[in-house]
Amino acid sequence: MVQPSELEIAGDEGYIIRSVFFDNRPVTIIAANKSKGVLYGIFHFFRLIQNRQAIDKLSIQSKPRIQKRLLNHWDNLNGSVERGYAGKSIWNWEKLPVEVDPRYKDYARVNASIGINGTVLNNVNSQAEILTKGYISKAAAIASVLRPYGIQIYFSIKFISPMEIGGLSTADPFDPHVRRWWKEKAQQIYQQIPDFGGFLVKAYSEGQPGPQIYGRTHADGANMLAEALSPYGGIVMWRSFVYDLSIDSDRTKCGYLEFVPLDGQFATNVLIQSKNGPVDFQPREPINPLFGAMPKTPIMMELQITQEYTGQSNHLVYLAPQWKEVLDSDTFSKGPGTLVAEIVDGSAENHTLSGIAGVSGIGTDRNWMGHHFSQANWYAFGRLAWDPAFTSGQIAEEWIRMTWSNDPKTIGVIAKMMAGSWEACVDYMTPLGLHHLMAAGHHYGPGPDYVNPGRADWSSTYYHKADSQGIGFDRSSKGTNGVGQYAEPLRRLWDSPVTCPEKYLLWFHHLPWTHQMSSGKTLWQELRLHYKRGVEAVGIMQKTWDSLEGRIDQQRFDHVKARLEMQLENAREWRDVCLEYFGRFAESPNSGHDR
Ligand code: GCU
Repeated sequence: MVQPSELEIAGDEGYIIRSVFFDNRPVTIIAANKSKGVLYGIFHFFRLIQNRQAIDKLSIQSKPRIQKRLLNHWDNLNGSVERGYAGKSIWNWEKLPVEVDPRYKDYARVNASIGINGTVLNNVNSQAEILTKGYISKAAAIASVLRPYGIQIYFSIKFISPMEIGGLSTADPFDPHVRRWWKEKAQQIYQQIPDFGGFLVKAYSEGQPGPQIYGRTHADGANMLAEALSPYGGIVMWRSFVYDLSIDSDRTKCGYLEFVPLDGQFATNVLIQSKNGPVDFQPREPINPLFGAMPKTPIMMELQITQEYTGQSNHLVYLAPQWKEVLDSDTFSKGPGTLVAEIVDGSAENHTLSGIAGVSGIGTDRNWMGHHFSQANWYAFGRLAWDPAFTSGQIAEEWIRMTWSNDPKTIGVIAKMMAGSWEACVDYMTPLGLHHLMAAGHHYGPGPDYVNPGRADWSSTYYHKADSQGIGFDRSSKGTNGVGQYAEPLRRLWDSPVTCPEKYLLWFHHLPWTHQMSSGKTLWQELRLHYKRGVEAVGIMQKTWDSLEGRIDQQRFDHVKARLEMQLENAREWRDVCLEYFGRFAESPNSGHDR
């Protein structure tokens, strides 16, 4: 029925589902090497049933392409969630370990059903307290609920924890006392949580301390932690989200400049965790140039499920198309056909360790994510982590069938809304390669005129550089040469405004308002068109949703309807504020543009 040799390639997490006859009766076999594989196989089988697929002639073989498939909670120990839009943290630290919320089991099942196998419990802007005995016991209680579902827990750690909670006078990674402190800490953790996954580290970034304080490198810091965790099989996920402008005045170049020279210096249980793009989860960014640039180091990809810059829990924005655009991008790092997905799954360089992380949008809200449609992003993250080759349409259809309805009309209508929602958001927020136009602090609405008095790179004006001459950030070889961090032919293609894809145009080029676009229109006309199109698309989404009244339950219908109304209002605001602001330059007497 299923030969042991067939299971060889299934690994620890894969499975085979097969319809066979046994004793003259039709049966379904779900076979795997480990219990985790059976678990995933069963969820696959449930999915088929929920999707109303035939289950009498099954012949399925599946295994995940990426090894570590993690959620990253940006949850603080006081119960708040950084960039969380769905209530409070689900981790009730006050009541743990005595009271264990029954929701943790639901959380575990939901995540296991989409193949998530790890979760970082606390914010990357970490507090040292997570490593105290009390919190380790609390975390151990969570771990025991997640364990049967194949989910390991991880901590974000603060680099100077040995000083803050260990009584040491330094956190220098070369100091023997510091090294011993981390080793003892690891031992303490593993005593209580034998399958603990490891540490996530935000170091020397946005005020977080790092090894640089002591003149050491990222590799020195990461390797010290790796040494402490390695006896237990733990890993270190060291983030490349750094932008020290003393290294380069173009923020997008900083991560690459700091990390590429360290390639080959990291211990074997270290992954570098890099955001999809070089800035910060903007509605659209070109790929992070680090993908493909550090062949000796496994690069993990960090995506953002919580919609910090894409309307938070008020806008319907299905992010799978954004993630697919990144995963399917060719880095050309080893010649044509070296996709980001192949860097991330480790196959491009034969890495045995690979990983992907999604910044969670989960909170205490009854619907977990604030917006019913935000759940689609959680679902899509898990599915793409399992196999980046799945299409966003296929994932959307599965989710719609399981969440809303199996009625073909309903599926078609919702699928269409979801498919165009991300591009619509890009259009009404940051079209044609614009980025970082949001208001300061909350990052919700438009703020193209925002200037941070202390930091240029936290100002919108730093990114769009609009003036009467034109708009856009010149990262071409004549500007900051940000394009120089990409492999050929990307470097050459993106270097010229003629061959640069228009979706990235103002990311790489500063162009006159009169610049002629491929449509024959001027840049200013085209920009206006995009903003207008974005708003119109939301209007269409709204009407489309209204056509579903009566086909889905009233409560969820009303929830989405109310949010779409707000989304339309917000999209109009983005359009009006941005066009009014840019218009001041584009239509000024010396812009060269007809008024
Ligand atoms: C963004 C976000 C911060 C977060 C940071 C990070 O800048 O706004 O809240 O801490 O990313 O990823 O570290």
